[in-house]
Amino acid sequence: MSLSPQSAQLYEKVKSVILPAEWSEFAPDVDAILALKRERNAVILAHNYQTPEIFHGVADIVGDSLALAREAMKTDAEVIVLAGVHFMAETAKLLNPGRTVLIPDLRAGCSLAASITAADVRLLRQRWPGVPIVTYVNTSAAVKAESDICCTSGNAKKIVESLGVPKVIMLPDEYLAQNIAAETKVEIVTWAGHCEVHERFSAADVRQLRIGHPGIVVLAHPECPPEVVAEADFAGSTAAMADYVSREKPGRVVLMTECSMSDNIAALNPGIDFVRPCNLCPHMKRITLPKIRRALETMRHEVTIDPAVATAARRAVERMLAIR
Ligand code: 13P
Ligand code: SF4
Repeated sequence: MSLSPQSAQLYEKVKSVILPAEWSEFAPDVDAILALKRERNAVILAHNYQTPEIFHGVADIVGDSLALAREAMKTDAEVIVLAGVHFMAETAKLLNPGRTVLIPDLRAGCSLAASITAADVRLLRQRWPGVPIVTYVNTSAAVKAESDICCTSGNAKKIVESLGVPKVIMLPDEYLAQNIAAETKVEIVTWAGHCEVHERFSAADVRQLRIGHPGIVVLAHPECPPEVVAEADFAGSTAAMADYVSREKPGRVVLMTECSMSDNIAALNPGIDFVRPCNLCPHMKRITLPKIRRALETMRHEVTIDPAVATAARRAVERMLAIR
C-alpha cells in the first residue's frame, strides 16, 4: 500500500521500532486522526506507555503523569483526547472544566486507582486525625477530593517534604510510599495498593539481567518493589527514565517498567541497546489508533466529574502543581 506524504514522513521517526508492513496497517488511521484533530480543534495527550504509533504518530503532547497534567492546563484546543488511562483523563478534565475531554476506551483503568475508595480515605482520616493525606494521581477524582494534596512519581518526595510535618499518609501505592520513605525523614503511613505491572518485577530479575548482560544500566520506576529500586542504578518517573537515557546515553539499558516505554525512547536514541523484560499494562493497551479515531469521529467517551467532587479534587491537584 502506498503511504501519504505525511505518513511516509512520520514513518521515518519510528522505523527502528515498527515494521513497514505494520506501518501500512497504521497509516490510514494516522492520516484520518491528523485530519480529525484539525476539524475538531483537538489535541492528543499521550502517556509514555502508549504504543509508538500513537506516541510518535498522532500525539501532540507526550510525557509522564505530571507533564500531562501541566500541559493539559496550557492547551487552548477545544477538545482533549487523553491517550492514557482514566485517572489521567479525569485530571485533564479537573484542570480544564470548560473543555471536552475524551478517553477512547472507558475501561482503561488502573490497579492503583481501583485499590482505594473515597470512603477508605475518610476512615483513614478518622484513624490518623491531623495527619495530612498525600494522594498519588493514580486515583479517582472522588479519592483526590478527600485528600490534602496530590503527587506523582516525579514529585512525590518534594510534595511530602513541602508539608513541613513529621508524618504523612501516602496513598495508595505502598511501594512508591516505601521508596519515598527511604529517601526522607518524614514518617509515611502507607496503603496496600500496588501497580499490577511493576509489582511483578523482582530483585532476582535485576540480578539475572546483570549476569546475562554485563555492564547493563538498570532503570526502575518507583512503583517497583523497594528491593528492585535498591538494586537499580536509577529510579524515577517515566519522564525521568527517558531523560536519563537521552542524557547519559548508556550502551545497554533495561527499563523495569511498561513495555512501550523502551520502544518510544529507542526510536529517539538510535545506537542504544535496550534489553526488554518488560510487563504490559492491559489498561494502557486498551487505547489503540482505531479507538482514538472513533473517539474523534463520535466525540465519545466524554469524561465528566460531579461538580461537588471536582471542586475538592481540583484543589488537591492545584496544590500539587503550585509546588515547583
Ligand atoms: P509516571 O507519572 O511516572 O508517568 O507514571 C504513571 C504510571 O501510571 C506508571 O505506572
Ligand atoms: Fe496503573 Fe500500573 Fe497501568 Fe500505570 S502501569 S496505569 S500504575 S496499572
